[in-house]
Amino acid sequence: MHRMQLLVLGGTGFVGRHLVPRLAAAGHRITVLSRNRDRHRELWIVPGVRVVNGDPYQSASLVPWLKGADAAINLVGILNERGRSGQGFKRAHVDLTACLIRACREAGVRRILQMSALNAGRGQSHYLKTRGEAENLVRDSGLAWTIFRPSVIFGRGDGLFYRFAKLLRLFPVLPLARAHARFQPVFVGDVAAAFAAALENPSAIGQTYELGGPEIMTLAEIVRYTARQLGLRRLILPLPDWIGRLQGLIFDFVPGKPFSSDNFKSLLLDSVVEEDGLARLGIPKTPVGAVMPALLKGLCRQSELDRFRRYRLS
Ligand SMILES: NC(=O)c1ccc[n+]([C@@H]2O[C@H](COP(=O)([O-])OP(=O)(O)OC[C@H]3O[C@@H](n4cnc5c(N)ncnc54)[C@H](OP(=O)(O)O)[C@@H]3O)[C@@H](O)[C@H]2O)c1
Repeated sequence: MHRMQLLVLGGTGFVGRHLVPRLAAAGHRITVLSRNRDRHRELWIVPGVRVVNGDPYQSASLVPWLKGADAAINLVGILNERGRSGQGFKRAHVDLTACLIRACREAGVRRILQMSALNAGRGQSHYLKTRGEAENLVRDSGLAWTIFRPSVIFGRGDGLFYRFAKLLRLFPVLPLARAHARFQPVFVGDVAAAFAAALENPSAIGQTYELGGPEIMTLAEIVRYTARQLGLRRLILPLPDWIGRLQGLIFDFVPGKPFSSDNFKSLLLDSVVEEDGLARLGIPKTPVGAVMPALLKGLCRQSELDRFRRYRLS
């Protein structure tokens, strides 16, 4: 196996925290560029990994870290922007990708792996539209590209089961927009395996891989499954679309945007693969049931311990 030098943008997030140690364990040397390295000390201690501060929107900030690298990996993505104009999505997805492509050319890096999402370029949400625009930039870049389009990703610390676990603990009734939207949850370890396989396999150049797990679940099924694993009896209330849309419009103005009208628009499309990228890469699919029950039970134990500590301290 050829040991590579890699620059990863967005490597401090949920996917990066799984992908970066995996690539490092395979012998690659990795620079993770972060807007604030002090917040991500857990990655500092991984052998073969360095976390550096940098501005991913300035090619001058990227070029020095790209010089001598074999490939760049772009994991940056946002689910919500500050305003509602789409400019935040354009900046994080399109402008940042354009900047990385410019910097790769300048530094002489030929290979780029771009994280995207299922349904990129489809529908009415700024999220999916700008994902599609970023993909087009990568395809037209003249670089040796590979694009990944996962459905929702699950695993330790995800934004799906863990997020619903938090909400289910707080509220006895959970009103759910687009409860019947279909997903194909894919394990973060399988997503990381897909990136690792593509790096080592020249036939992955010029390919787009859709990544989905072995089962299709509706949003309501995902929430009910989470409640069951936590041993909670909760009422899941599917909302008709007109209320779901209204919920998005209201949450647009809630700080931190737990939900938004743009999320609602993305949810209008099922997040299910049309081609089996994991199979093409020779990666077996991990079912939700092989991973999440133990993780969610761990979460329960953790919160019991926290309650016990608070009780002892009070
Ligand atoms: N998680 C999923 O279910 C899922 C599904 C489909 C596609 N994806 C895509 O996969 C990628 C990784 O997902 P993730 O869940 O790991 O994301 P994440 O946890 O939100 O992490 C993304 C990283 O990107 C950087 N970042 C965030 N906002 C940014 C901004 N406005 N400008 C520049 N950098 C920014 C942050 O790094 P620093 O703060 O260190 O700079 C952050 O750690 C994203 O592109 C996401 O859209 C994820």
